[in-house]
Amino acid sequence: MKKDFLSILDISHNELEALLREAARLKRLRAKGTPHDILRGKTLAMIFEKSSTRTHISFEVGMHDLGGHALFLSTKDLQVGRGEDVKDTARVASRYVSAVMVRAYRHSTIEEFARNATIPVINGLSDREHPCQLLADILTIREHFGSLRDLRVAWIGDGNNVCNSLILSSALTGMEISVAGPKGYLPKRSVINRARSLGGRIHVTASPYAAAKDAHIIATDTWISMGDEAERDQRLAAFKGYIVDENLLAHADPGARVLHCLPAHRGEEISAAVIDGKQSLVWDEAENRLHAQKALLIRLLSKTGERKTKGGGQRSTSR
Ligand code: CP
Ligand code: NVA
Repeated sequence: MKKDFLSILDISHNELEALLREAARLKRLRAKGTPHDILRGKTLAMIFEKSSTRTHISFEVGMHDLGGHALFLSTKDLQVGRGEDVKDTARVASRYVSAVMVRAYRHSTIEEFARNATIPVINGLSDREHPCQLLADILTIREHFGSLRDLRVAWIGDGNNVCNSLILSSALTGMEISVAGPKGYLPKRSVINRARSLGGRIHVTASPYAAAKDAHIIATDTWISMGDEAERDQRLAAFKGYIVDENLLAHADPGARVLHCLPAHRGEEISAAVIDGKQSLVWDEAENRLHAQKALLIRLLSKTGERKTKGGGQRSTSR
């Protein structure tokens, strides 16, 4: 069976542990300049329906580091942007490349792609989740704190895609997550219930101070995600008071660190003093996208991750 990575819960606790170890190993190899072309001859298609800096660069450089090749494909240029079926695109891409990363507005688009692809599909951000971001965030937290268990994470702001993946990841890591946001912008009950049913410890409050109290990690993201631009004024008004600034950080544990997946908007969801300050792990977090995704690509494209046979399409060549 091929493996997909559409949700952070597509991996188990043990798989996450192995992936973090592998990411740390790959990071050391890269720092030493030791070649690690484990995916020689493999190809990754990267399909983008929305903008990207980190996801695009880290996947492309990651495939290069691993001896493979990545193709940047914008839906502005692909036929799917002119109405070709997602399922036909998935079937065709499966005949050319070893894996596909898709960044789409709707999660259902990525699911449809994955259902029709015979190769691994990676969610590079949808309206529901950003699982690759969470791999990097968890790697960053573990690098800094040494272990994940019993750490308290406060998510301040929009209950969005990144927040959903963080909430669900609690079931894998044991970290306790407190989400603070205004009414109407809190994460969906279904996401919270799913995480809780799997053992995740999740708290929800309207008070950023209650969430931040004694937290080891304060995380936030833009108040206006891609696709939300038409609601800009209404969102800026709703999130007033939810900025991660020095005042809020003073309520956290003295050793607390700050995460933001980027792009950031200084003066909106985070202050310049915090993102550019001593407690910020944001730049390590961005770098760790590269190492975490390389580990993910190796996992998905290793022998057991070979494509399943679907629709009569036998694997004819080694990709
Ligand atoms: N954090 C993140 O996914 O950044 P990009 O939108 O630049 O890829
Ligand atoms: N929540 C943001 C994340 C960007 C990486 C968005 O969806 O635009």
